[in-house]
Amino acid sequence: MVKFHDLTVADIRAETDESVSIAFAVPEALKDAYSFTPGQFLTLRAEVGGEDIRRSYSICSGVNDNELRVAVKRVGGGRFSGFANSAVAAGDVLQVMTPDGRFTLAPDPALNGRHVVAFAAGSGITPIMSIVKSLLEDEPETTVTLFYGNRTVGGVIFRDALEALKDRFTKRFTLVHLLSGERQEAPLLNGRLDGEKAATLLRVLVPEEADAYLICGPGTMVEDIRAALRAQGVAEGKIRFELFTPAEGVALASVAPSDAGAVPAEAGETARVAVLIDGVRTEFDLPFNGPCVLEGAEAAGADAPFSCKGGVCATCRARVLQGAVEMAQNYALLEDEVAQGFVLTCQSRPTSKTLVLDYDAV
Ligand code: FES
Repeated sequence: MVKFHDLTVADIRAETDESVSIAFAVPEALKDAYSFTPGQFLTLRAEVGGEDIRRSYSICSGVNDNELRVAVKRVGGGRFSGFANSAVAAGDVLQVMTPDGRFTLAPDPALNGRHVVAFAAGSGITPIMSIVKSLLEDEPETTVTLFYGNRTVGGVIFRDALEALKDRFTKRFTLVHLLSGERQEAPLLNGRLDGEKAATLLRVLVPEEADAYLICGPGTMVEDIRAALRAQGVAEGKIRFELFTPAEGVALASVAPSDAGAVPAEAGETARVAVLIDGVRTEFDLPFNGPCVLEGAEAAGADAPFSCKGGVCATCRARVLQGAVEMAQNYALLEDEVAQGFVLTCQSRPTSKTLVLDYDAV
């Protein structure tokens, strides 16, 4: 299971006016714990303004970089991103969770020669940077096409690093910048990277179906491009995506991995909940219409893992062993995981009198 360790900031550098990347020194004894698959993220934890805050940031290093580095873009009103962009310095110590996340694509010699198409918007480039770099380096025949949308040139994170990658892998890496706030010569490259634009770009620049598609950016962009790919007949299994900011108003996902003992939720009633974490069982009562399972577990003293609390990162994932829950939203679990009984505990409320969840399940 994921765990926090204290890591020292080895380096911090400005990537744009609004973003920095932070590299951590990893002691020899923790090298294995912090080895990562391209596309994964780290959750950072610090006390900011007297409050304990944790946020997830994707790793941007490639697997051969011998470095553990994340990028942090400042967001309006974002306390942690503001803190990271203005107060963190080399030598500081932050609590860093071991890598997590399933938006991954690892180099695989057996798949050398594939074509991967990626769509990224803004800071959505971070995990894609790690994946693209690792693929180009470790699969010598593989080709990558990256469509990268930003408002202005000045806001393009990793602009120099991407250009260097393009120079290094001239024949295998196609990089296409789209700008919505500045004009470029080719009209096709002006405007937002949305479903319609993606469909046009694919028709013009990638007429043959690729082997894998990656999408990372805001929720609406991800959903639009997924829909555009499906409309072109791309199988869902070829598409991987990660939301950086969940869309508003997404319908509730109802999940009932086991309907044994399911009862209608009534105000004032409580469920008896048990959670297994690192083999330790913690039991507590939780009102049907009250806090989510994760909050209940925390209040009962269990060391339940979490990061975003927004249904995006899956750090709080657990498997329902007995009973049933309803999830408010799910941006992280795949359909087959849900079918196997996995839920996001930060989004789950009990709908059965008895509920048992296993955080250790894989
Ligand atoms: S803590 Fe991120 S999905 Fe639950």
